[in-house]
Amino acid sequence: MPSPEILESAGVLYTDFFRFISDSLHPRSYFEIGTQLGRSVRSFTCSAVCVDPHFMLDQDVLAGRPQTHFYQIPSDTYFAENDLRSIFKLGPDICFLDGMHRSEYLLRDFMNTERLCHKQSIIFMHDYLLANARMALRTHEIGDVSEGNWQHAWTGDVWKVVPLLKKFRPDLKIFYLDCAPTGLVAVSNLDPGDTSLRESYSGLVDELRNLDLNTFTLRRLWNETPVISSRSLMEFPEDITLYMSIY
Ligand SMILES: C[S@@+](CC[C@H](N)C(=O)[O-])C[C@H]1O[C@@H](n2cnc3c(N)ncnc32)[C@H](O)[C@@H]1O
Repeated sequence: MPSPEILESAGVLYTDFFRFISDSLHPRSYFEIGTQLGRSVRSFTCSAVCVDPHFMLDQDVLAGRPQTHFYQIPSDTYFAENDLRSIFKLGPDICFLDGMHRSEYLLRDFMNTERLCHKQSIIFMHDYLLANARMALRTHEIGDVSEGNWQHAWTGDVWKVVPLLKKFRPDLKIFYLDCAPTGLVAVSNLDPGDTSLRESYSGLVDELRNLDLNTFTLRRLWNETPVISSRSLMEFPEDITLYMSIY
């Protein structure tokens, strides 16, 4: 493991940024994998579909929302047995992938979600800008007290999906937002008809296995990615459509 190093996202809390997205882009539909307490879905007021094998809702996630659908099953089962288009006929406007924090799971969630999207949908992914290498382990291990607030944080190795998509899907538009605590990735210019990821899934999993933070390095992960300031976007909301638009 590389020597401990703490890098911090300077932006606004991701749920505050989502509230801003909800208010400025006015999505009609929201699809979420990984809901847990309900903090992320609560940022949106449109109709929502939430998938999580173990909901732990502790807040009102229904307030003001026309429809909310909960599926208490793993995302792979959800995709195998359900059709999101039966609820969102046009496809979801906004998606948030925040389920199992292992790269091959996120890759499958991305592939399965993209095919249900429309051309203007935006898929957000969580936990790209990790603060230290311990957080990126594939199992959740509690850190040492020297990590301070990060001691219990776990992003897993989902960071790997971004370099993979950049390499194999150069047609996608990928932006990084510096939202606290661990960043948000926004993927647009989606192609619901794309089958390339599905067709090369097993080779892509080999690529994921071979990506290693020791060689890729945490610094490169931070330095190689053009990071958009979430604070600036919220200060100049008219700029949001330079980066994303759902209509
Ligand atoms: C980090 S939490 C989600 C937090 C939530 N999105 C928020 O922002 O407050 C991750 C969630 O993913 C769920 N999860 C784990 N494995 C999953 C799977 N295979 N499919 C869908 N969700 C999964 C866990 O039960 C957990 O509630």
